[in-house]
Amino acid sequence: MTMIKTNETTVPETEEQKYAELKEFIAELNTYEHSDSYLIRALHKTQQLFGYLPVRAMDVIAQEMGIPTAHIWGVATFYHYFNLNPPGQYTIAVCLGTACYVKGAAQILEAVKNELKIDVGETTTDGIFSLQPARCLGACGLAPVVMINEKIHGELTPKSMLDLIKKYRREAAKKNA
Ligand code: FES
Repeated sequence: MTMIKTNETTVPETEEQKYAELKEFIAELNTYEHSDSYLIRALHKTQQLFGYLPVRAMDVIAQEMGIPTAHIWGVATFYHYFNLNPPGQYTIAVCLGTACYVKGAAQILEAVKNELKIDVGETTTDGIFSLQPARCLGACGLAPVVMINEKIHGELTPKSMLDLIKKYRREAAKKNA
């Protein structure tokens, strides 16, 4: 099993900083013609900042873009990409790109689903793990690959994937003690 760390992206730390950045982003969108057609970009930005689409952020978008909240929720629920619930402490993204798929990504995904008793797009009841599918994570040479938060883990087998889950469970128990 191999692990590499991806490039860090800078995300504002506090909730208020995140909302300030979201408002700034929308103000920029509002300078464009037909700005209401940029709703998806505002939703992407929200998910990037918060990891999901909080109700308060939806209200901010509605207010700042002048779009009815019901319409925003309609768009958000139409696309599977958007998370409507807070993610778990660790998000496991299983790469289902071609290179990973031919090296056994489906078995890795099954092992995770069985172990955590959740489906793709769900979070465990203890709030520790979320499961997401991913397209190519840019580490095909290490296939099959999963990303857990921002760390890439490669050359996995169903067994090493389960060991990894155990390791993160222990880490969570320590952090949450
Ligand atoms: S296909 Fe999985 S990392 Fe490229």
